[in-house]
Amino acid sequence: MSTRVATGVYDDAAGPAVAALLRDAGFDVGDVVVVADGRERVADAIVAACGDADVVVTSGGTGLHPGDATPEATLDVIDRLAPGIAEAMRAASLAVTPMAMLSRGVAGTRGRTLVVNLPGSPKAAVENLAAIVPVLRHAVDQLRGGDHRR
Ligand code: MTE
Repeated sequence: MSTRVATGVYDDAAGPAVAALLRDAGFDVGDVVVVADGRERVADAIVAACGDADVVVTSGGTGLHPGDATPEATLDVIDRLAPGIAEAMRAASLAVTPMAMLSRGVAGTRGRTLVVNLPGSPKAAVENLAAIVPVLRHAVDQLRGGDHRR
């Protein structure tokens, strides 16, 4: 989610970096889509991305800039919050930089899809996603109705 990337000011680096990390973790990764900031535009893009995807990851628009509306757009389209995922990303990120507290990213479920907001810089996006990759598979299993192994 970036107006500057969408208008060609610079190339998307976060999207491919996030896609590569997910691919390395064993996920089949769909298209990387660039969307200009804007609550409705971002909400529409998240809904379109959900389809039958297990996980939709956004990058950017989580900060305090007046145009940053990714968390609000996400809250508009998810059914349930998964606060622990956002908490874990911020906790891990705070060990790297105090700037981590400036990300307002949220995570939650829309139907059977988990939606996760990451910050916009490639470094920040990868650091945040890396913190939750170890639980993504189990999160997806749960969303499909699976149970814990006992
Ligand atoms: N998290 C990690 N792990 N590493 C970072 O460098 N940058 C922060 C924060 N989270 C950062 C991070 C900064 S500087 C900002 S402004 C917020 O994410 C929001 O980023 P966004 O507006 O690009 O979404």
